[in-house]
Amino acid sequence: MKIIGTGSVLPKKIVTNDMLSEFLDTSDAWIYPRTGIKYRHVISDEKLEDMAAEAARKALEDAGMKPEELDLIICSNVVNEYITPSLSCIIQGAIGASCPCLDINCACAGFIYALDIAESHFQAGKVKNVLIVCAEEPSRMTSWKDRSVCVLFGDGAGAAVLTAGDNIKGIKLSAASATDKLYQKRVLEPTPYITKEEESIPLQMKGQDVFKFAVKASSGDIKFLLDKLGLKADDVNWYLLHQANMRIINSIRDFLDQPAEKFPTNVESHGNSSSASCPILLDECSKKGMFKPGDILALSAFGAGFISGAVILEW
Ligand code: UT7
Repeated sequence: MKIIGTGSVLPKKIVTNDMLSEFLDTSDAWIYPRTGIKYRHVISDEKLEDMAAEAARKALEDAGMKPEELDLIICSNVVNEYITPSLSCIIQGAIGASCPCLDINCACAGFIYALDIAESHFQAGKVKNVLIVCAEEPSRMTSWKDRSVCVLFGDGAGAAVLTAGDNIKGIKLSAASATDKLYQKRVLEPTPYITKEEESIPLQMKGQDVFKFAVKASSGDIKFLLDKLGLKADDVNWYLLHQANMRIINSIRDFLDQPAEKFPTNVESHGNSSSASCPILLDECSKKGMFKPGDILALSAFGAGFISGAVILEW
């Protein structure tokens, strides 16, 4: 399997740290040093499904592929306005594809998990071309009165088109259940029979626990793959890490003892866009012409669950 096209879309509304301090007890002086975020893109009048379809169209155009050539669409999404049908079905219709499609919810690690599912389909000989779309609106999950959470996130969609090839060198997935560290709950429709107490709770996060898990899991997943493939950290040309927090990225970089130039970032201007963060970064770097054929890329992401995953691939 190999990536032959990428695309991404961001909402037009830009929210700076100073704009947040107009209604929250926060400041750029607190947010930027702790997170590396200066501003983020937040959905206003856009629909997430339209952004997802647009990212998919861009990735198909980049790949020079028609929607009818797709054999599978995988959409990674934590939440959107539709409970059903799946976002992948909506994308399928919007782009004019006719292949099977499925959604996954693997939190911020969704792109890596989607790559793993796609790779299994290629290895089983079930597909020739696959589209992955990661579309997320975490701004709709947080309470905008909770300064400890809402300042961290931004919205967006990223997509990748995959075709046959042997460019995926290894994938490592991990999970360590810790469901009280990062979660959101919602109340479903009432029935005449429900007797249990229920409440909707916006996204809650134990920030320091998430931080520690992120550094340990991401460093561990990448090291596992390097060892398995007989590679050294120096052999990787580019590290594309989940864009959650600059301090997490720097800690993983310290562990790997690699120069900052190998770690492209967009957390400064995007915030954490959950599973969309890796494919958006991949698209932006690809469109800047940063990757040469034969470059080794390591992608790694972590999120609620806790779950994490990494992939090493040849561009
Ligand atoms: O995909 C995974 C998503 N999550 C992450 O990547 C988050 C990982 N965690 C982190 O990056 C850090 O834990 C945070 C940036 C979220 C928080 O930094 P911290 O240094 O761990 O701060 P803290 O939670 O220990 O809070 C320190 C203080 C508290 O005040 P007190 O109790 O010491 O008076 C907070 O209330 O900072 C306060 N605080 C804020 N102050 C201004 C928390 N959020 C804010 C804020 N502005 N936005």
